[in-house]
Amino acid sequence: MKEILAILQMNRMEETKDALEVIGVPSFTAYKVAGRGKQKGLQVAYPSPIEPGERKMKYLPKRMISVVVEDEFVPAVVAVITKINRTGNFGDGRIFVCPVEESIRIRTGERGNEAVS
Ligand SMILES: Nc1ncnc2c1ncn2[C@@H]1O[C@H](COP(=O)(O)OP(=O)(O)OP(=O)(O)O)[C@@H](O)[C@H]1O
Ligand SMILES: [Mg+2]
Repeated sequence: MKEILAILQMNRMEETKDALEVIGVPSFTAYKVAGRGKQKGLQVAYPSPIEPGERKMKYLPKRMISVVVEDEFVPAVVAVITKINRTGNFGDGRIFVCPVEESIRIRTGERGNEAVS
């Protein structure tokens, strides 16, 4: 099992959620987060060609989703998130794939792959 952590633009969340459901991945957790990437919280290339001297915002509001899936689903989930969220601009987001040791559905006691989807 893997956890796919994706940090995304807020305005892409609805479409991302719908697209994941279409490929059979309806369950995930969404967080409101603040973050910064290579441009250090700027929405333009750093240093800014527009406002070179000005003090800049340090964090930008983002959404993060955590999707835990069986290993074989990882490429499809990454492809869908990438397709929906890539505009070609800075700040389109980041995806991290992390190992998950165990999954337990509390209601039934199911474990592992059975308890993922
Ligand atoms: N190395 C990292 N570790 C943890 N979170 C990160 C990392 N890089 C980016 N993030 C998170 O992802 C969000 C989106 O990052 P962003 O899309 O700006 O990445 P980037 O590497 O700067 O790429 P780009 O040059 O396309 O903007 C950031 O606001 C931050 O929350
Ligand atoms: Mg960036």
